This record gives sequence, C-alpha cells and structure tokens, in this order.
Amino acid sequence: MVHLHELKNLTFLEQTIWSLLERASADRKHDMHLCSVSTVDSLGYPEARMVVLRAASAANKTLSFHTDIRSRKAKSLHNLPYLTMLFWDKSSSVQLSIRCLATIHHKDPLAQLKLSMISLPESILYACDKIPAEVLEKFEGDSEFTFRNELIPEHFCWIECTTVFIDFLHLGRGKAAHTRAKFSYENSRLIEANYVKA
Ligand SMILES: Cc1cc2nc3c(=O)[nH]c(=O)nc-3n(C[C@H](O)[C@H](O)[C@H](O)COP(=O)(O)O)c2cc1C
Repeated sequence: MVHLHELKNLTFLEQTIWSLLERASADRKHDMHLCSVSTVDSLGYPEARMVVLRAASAANKTLSFHTDIRSRKAKSLHNLPYLTMLFWDKSSSVQLSIRCLATIHHKDPLAQLKLSMISLPESILYACDKIPAEVLEKFEGDSEFTFRNELIPEHFCWIECTTVFIDFLHLGRGKAAHTRAKFSYENSRLIEANYVKA
C-alpha cells in the first residue's frame, strides 16, 4: 500500500520506491521479487524475460540478479550494458520501469561471494553442461536433468544494475487519479524528480 502523503511528496515517494524494492528482494512472496528484464540484441531487437530480484540497495541505487554467463541476456549485456527492469506490485498498484546500466561480475570476488550464498536448488542451475538456448536433439521434459555432481562456478555471473532512470506509476483506485513520476540518477545519486502526466 502506498499512502497519499507518500505520493504527494517526491522525496518521500523516492524513498518509498526504494524501500519497496529492498523489501521485495528479501521476500519471495512479494510481487516485485520477480521482474521482467529487457535487453537489446545485436540486431536491435528488444529481448525480455523474467528474473528473480536478488538484491536491491537504496544507498547505491542498484538492483541485482544472477544468471548463466553463457545466456543470451549476459551476451547482450556484454555487448550493450543497457537494460530495463519492469515491476508490478498488485497490492500497492505500483508499476516501476527502471532503466539501468549493467555491470557483469564474473569470477571476481563479488561473484564468488554471491555464488557461495545461493541455495542448493539454485546452484543446480549452474551445474549443467548444456548451454542455455542450445538446440536439443529431442524432447527432454520427461527425463531428469543431467547435472554434474558439483556446480560449475564459471557459469555463474552476478549482474549489478545501476539505476539511471525510474518511471513510477501508481494506479488510483475508484475515482482517484493515477500518479506518474520520473526520477533521474547520475553516479547513483538522484539528480531530478518530476511528476508527469499518467
Ligand atoms: C519466474 C521466473 C524466474 C526466473 N528467474 C531467473 C533468474 O533469476 N535468472 C535467470 O537467469 N533466469 C531466470 N529465469 C529464466 C529466464 O526467464 C530465461 O528463460 C532464461 O534465463 C534464458 O533467458 P535468455 O535466453 O533471454 O538469456 C526465470 C524464469 C521465470 C519464469
């Protein structure tokens, strides 16, 4: 729930957005624990897919997720580090479209730390030899995955996304007006905030 007094003040609103994101990253049941991540491929096509929001930092204005370094999204971000993360929280009627700049952490101390913290079911994702999106000779949905016993640390990467722009939308209930605001950041600091037409 976002209260009127938070909507009415851009400073409060920005703080509310970041506390929503921090809570969502820590709560698997929160709507914003999942988001759509859009990147751009080498032909200029947008690519979108769901990821789990693994961390959010109000202090650094960063949002993070992990993925396979061999995935399409990691390749696209390596070529062009721009992405948009799209969130919808039904209970607070808030949509956030967040434009970011990605830093790929692979085999560095941060990636090693995050890898050491992942749960067993998640680590299984990084224990498979097959490359994501690789063409298969046959349907494999009725068989067990062929995992190695141990995860393959070099497949794991931690993507830290530094926010450059937030497009906030709150859908007013009943006769209440919608509220839309934009926030611009430079070097992880808020530099401009405005209400805009919803
Ligand atoms: C609910 C949900 C959560 C997901 N979370 C992740 C995730 O955290 N990291 C990830 O790499 N893929 C995740 N996936 C799989 C991706 O959506 C995607 O299918 C996969 O990573 C391949 O994407 P790409 O080929 O565009 O790189 C998730 C899928 C769903 C449906």
